[in-house]
Amino acid sequence: MKKRTIGNTEVSAIGMGCMGFSHAEGAQTDIDVAADVIREAVDLGYTFFNTGWNYGNVIDPHHNEKILGKAFKGIRDKVVISSKCGVDFDYEKNPDRPPLIYDFSRNKVRQCVEESLGRLNTDYIDFYLQARIDPKISPEEAAETMAELIKEGKVLHWGVSEADEDYLRRANAVCPISVVENNYNIINRKHESLIPFLEENKIGWVAHGPLFKGLLTGTFNKGAEFAADDWRSHSINDDNLDKYAPLLNYLHELGEEKNATPVQLSLAWILNRKPYIVPIPGMKKKERLTENMKAADIIFSKEEMDKIDELVIGNKEERNLES
Ligand SMILES: NC(=O)c1ccc[n+]([C@@H]2O[C@H](COP(=O)([O-])OP(=O)(O)OC[C@H]3O[C@@H](n4cnc5c(N)ncnc54)[C@H](OP(=O)(O)O)[C@@H]3O)[C@@H](O)[C@H]2O)c1
Repeated sequence: MKKRTIGNTEVSAIGMGCMGFSHAEGAQTDIDVAADVIREAVDLGYTFFNTGWNYGNVIDPHHNEKILGKAFKGIRDKVVISSKCGVDFDYEKNPDRPPLIYDFSRNKVRQCVEESLGRLNTDYIDFYLQARIDPKISPEEAAETMAELIKEGKVLHWGVSEADEDYLRRANAVCPISVVENNYNIINRKHESLIPFLEENKIGWVAHGPLFKGLLTGTFNKGAEFAADDWRSHSINDDNLDKYAPLLNYLHELGEEKNATPVQLSLAWILNRKPYIVPIPGMKKKERLTENMKAADIIFSKEEMDKIDELVIGNKEERNLES
């Protein structure tokens, strides 16, 4: 598979989002079964794997990192792992849709990193991220904690997920940030305003939710039902299926011309936006791996990019986007 560089680290152009095996997509996948899918991904050329300290559910709150620990036994040097902490889930209050508890205090982060290292079965983590801003902790304090961990060699690079420019600027001044992990897909453009800051500071962008949780696969119909602990219903619902029907129709149409699926086009659209963005689609099934990696070879014309933009957010003048 083609490669990209985020921060100063080379990774496969398409990374693998591993969350769905353990969290927010209904029942957890058996650890051996999930590890086997991940090993297959490595064999196919995927080198970038995304997880989180908190990816689990009420049954096993830290299930996901254990899967990666198992999958990468003996091949740790072939993969780049990204994990994160700073948000816990209050399963006692609601086991299916738990409220979030923010904690990025130094002691908590150090505890999480030690636990992540243990579960991932490694003595370093390539990227460790602050999962969300903790209102009790300043960006400077967060960055100091990460600088300590980097100095100790437990973490190689750090980043922040879903932070604004002011937070990132202040944190970056204390300990340089290598990546942001922000939601990005054809539909959600809210983080594009960070592009000048990312370029100025040579920061990579890991695009989570690149398929709008699966809506952009074009495989869901109205009336789709999800279990109470499957949070994809936030994105895949009748309102959104109506709202984005013209976009999905165009993706099918364009797919005929380019001999590509809506999934491949959606991932390729992200890759065509900027060379330092790496999408990490969630994939629980082996057949997704071969389909999705082909997105790395699709080139869009300017007209095709513009047409997609028009269908989602109006014409270019209205959007005031840089080209
Ligand atoms: N930093 C953050 O705040 C944050 C938040 C959410 C997620 N993430 C990370 O980002 C990753 C991706 O995001 P996401 O999983 O929420 O959403 P996503 O990648 O937009 O969508 C995942 C869904 O797409 C489906 N899919 C993938 N390839 C497909 C294909 N070729 N054909 C049909 N369906 C396909 C998956 O199905 P199957 O699972 O059945 O294969 C899954 O249901 C996560 O795994 C996680 O690592 C980070």
